[in-house]
Amino acid sequence: MLPELPEVAVSIVGLMGSQERSEHDHLLASCVMRSNYEGPANILALLANQFEERGHGTLVGLSSVAGERGRATNYIYGSAKAGFTAFLSGLRNRLAKRGVHVVTVLPGYVATKMTEGMNLPAGLTAQPNEVAEAIVLAVKRKKDVIYVRRFWYLIMLIIKLIPERLFKGLRL
Ligand SMILES: NC(=O)c1ccc[n+]([C@@H]2O[C@H](COP(=O)([O-])OP(=O)(O)OC[C@H]3O[C@@H](n4cnc5c(N)ncnc54)[C@H](OP(=O)(O)O)[C@@H]3O)[C@@H](O)[C@H]2O)c1
Repeated sequence: MLPELPEVAVSIVGLMGSQERSEHDHLLASCVMRSNYEGPANILALLANQFEERGHGTLVGLSSVAGERGRATNYIYGSAKAGFTAFLSGLRNRLAKRGVHVVTVLPGYVATKMTEGMNLPAGLTAQPNEVAEAIVLAVKRKKDVIYVRRFWYLIMLIIKLIPERLFKGLRL
């Protein structure tokens, strides 16, 4: 129980883990799944009930474009984010008429500890302050789902449109 209920709560918890190691270690896979879905969802669920009772507030969940399609190279993380995205969507629909707003953030690549040492394309990689600014704007404008760099919307649209029989031959 918090001493004072905030107006806005942002869930940033997330763990990339190692896809390769997770494929052979179910405890590690479970840790990635729980850190990206079960944990954040349960904490937001607690806050959601309190916000609902109060009748106002905004909940923000940091999910990922990785949750939009299962890819061979990160489907453990991606599947947990898919669950979290669906949870946020359901929560938003439940609370829409109760004065509580829910924002889903799909950041694309961000230069943080999580992506340290990865060779990411500069044009597709946001800085943490950019993500923070996008979140503030989304809360103010009552956005439902945001991509931090809009180009990611297009990328994911294309990725989602690739037929599965072709997709399974790609190493994405
Ligand atoms: N960086 C990206 O490219 C990227 C892209 C898409 C989405 N995201 C999402 O954006 C959010 C922020 O990530 P970030 O890039 O800022 O990564 P980060 O620097 O690694 O931050 C992740 C945070 O989650 C916490 N965390 C991880 N597992 C936890 C657990 N089991 N219990 C409690 N806390 C836990 C970490 O705590 P500790 O510091 O104590 O480890 C850390 O504060 C995450 O949800 C991530 O999935 C990031």
